[in-house]
Amino acid sequence: MDKFLIISFFGLLMVAHAVAGKMVHDNIALLGELENLNVEEENEVELFEEPSWTSERGGKVLVNVDSFGAAGDGVSDDTQAFLNAWNTACSTPKSVFLVPAGRHYLVSATRFKGPCADKLVIQIDGTIVAPAEPDNWDPKLARIWLDFSKLNGVLFQGSGVIDGSGSKWWASSCKKNKSNPCRGAPTALTIDSSSAVKVKGLTIQNSQQMNFVISRSESVRIYQVLVSAPEDSPNTDGIHITESTNVVLQDCKIGTGDDCISIVNGSSAIKMKRIFCGPGHGISIGSLGKDNSMGIVTKVVLDTAYLRETANGLRIKTWQGGSGYVRGVRFENVRMEDVSNPIIIDQFYCDSPKACQNQTSAVKISQIMYRNISGTTKSSKAMKFACSDTVPCSDIVLSNVNLEKKDGTVETYCNSAQGIGYGIVHPSADCLTSNDKDAKLAEPTRNEIVHTEL
Ligand SMILES: *[C@@H]1O[C@H](CO)[C@@H](O)[C@H](O)[C@H]1NC(C)=O
Ligand SMILES: *[C@@H]1O[C@H](CO)[C@@H](O)[C@H](O)[C@H]1NC(C)=O
Ligand SMILES: *[C@@H]1O[C@H](CO)[C@@H](O)[C@H](O)[C@H]1NC(C)=O
Ligand SMILES: *[C@@H]1O[C@H](CO)[C@@H](O)[C@H](O)[C@H]1NC(C)=O
Repeated sequence: MDKFLIISFFGLLMVAHAVAGKMVHDNIALLGELENLNVEEENEVELFEEPSWTSERGGKVLVNVDSFGAAGDGVSDDTQAFLNAWNTACSTPKSVFLVPAGRHYLVSATRFKGPCADKLVIQIDGTIVAPAEPDNWDPKLARIWLDFSKLNGVLFQGSGVIDGSGSKWWASSCKKNKSNPCRGAPTALTIDSSSAVKVKGLTIQNSQQMNFVISRSESVRIYQVLVSAPEDSPNTDGIHITESTNVVLQDCKIGTGDDCISIVNGSSAIKMKRIFCGPGHGISIGSLGKDNSMGIVTKVVLDTAYLRETANGLRIKTWQGGSGYVRGVRFENVRMEDVSNPIIIDQFYCDSPKACQNQTSAVKISQIMYRNISGTTKSSKAMKFACSDTVPCSDIVLSNVNLEKKDGTVETYCNSAQGIGYGIVHPSADCLTSNDKDAKLAEPTRNEIVHTEL
């Protein structure tokens, strides 16, 4: 009997030791994986560089919208002139679709369809404005304004402005006035089902809803793009990426009424570098899992960002009841100033007028690294890992995180979250390492993490 007990005891010790050894090994492997998580800027060769084109030279064919009858007075409807110019530019090799500087072109909801002939440049130097009245919008194009699709190897550039004239849309939003019906509004600029597209230097502003959407595309480069909409304009996400891979956003400055950047289902290999965000709701992965849907996002890197006075900083948001996963994310070199929720994983996201039901399934979140993140928080919960009770978050890595509150103490909140910290981690995140998944927090805290963004 005694002998048996002793053997069992040693057996247990050996198991415990083996588990600890495996954990250390797993952690090192995980760190290596997250450190090496890079989005290759391959395919760069396909994306050609071009000087600004405002006159015919170097074998380029200039297709000026003015030559197709555009008035550019901000009053006359220039939609047909744009379409005619597009058809010519798109079918002519080496052409430049030119929207000249110093003029305002009123253009209604339009589909600019590819595929186009080789080396098309879309040079926007003037301002393109949308009709302001939602009641007159073409109901068949309810969710788009300027929609480009099936492009391959196209360069958008210029110092021009794309202005959605969104104020009446915002006023008619159900988020502004609960007696309004909830309906979708147009996206100002969409690049859909395209590859090898580069966008450089444009300004997109005052969109009816989302400002710039990249959907079902691959190898997209967005450089020096400015996005702006008022802080109180509803759902005006800056740059929204969906079902796209190999996308780089670099040197972009975004201030809106919703997420500066949102990355949703079907997106992988997304790199964001030198991003300025504020005002807005921060840089988000999600939302995912709405209406029990499957959401998958992998390989996302944010390197160097400055977030000022945003509602969230680095956020992953999922609805209860979803499936799929978010895996392999590295946020690094981020400075925050007066951000309400600097680091947040919210698996109880509920952005609907009525309360969301509790559900057991969830989008699995794992391998998320936060490295060199510093600055000030407005709320005392500088870090919140509010994960699903049934599908815990795992392998969260914190390294050199230092968040402070100007007038008070800060803390980390965890629910069903596991991870490791090294270097400075302030506020401390012991709740990630406690390994005590069964020690649930008292129920009332659940209500606190269910929030609605209105
Ligand atoms: C909300 O909309 C209703 C119906 O259109 C209107 O009567 C009311 O004045 C609006 N409220 C606000 C605060 O704008
Ligand atoms: C998620 O993305 C995948 C891959 O693009 C797509 O097949 C699927 O339909 C998307 N699911 C939802 C709910 O949008
Ligand atoms: C940490 O991030 C800040 C803010 O982006 C940056 O200025 C600094 O160089 C980074 N530090 C290291 C050691 O990379
Ligand atoms: C959801 O769960 C919380 C905590 O377990 C509970 O207080 C709340 O009543 C539940 N809500 C619904 C709609 O079942």
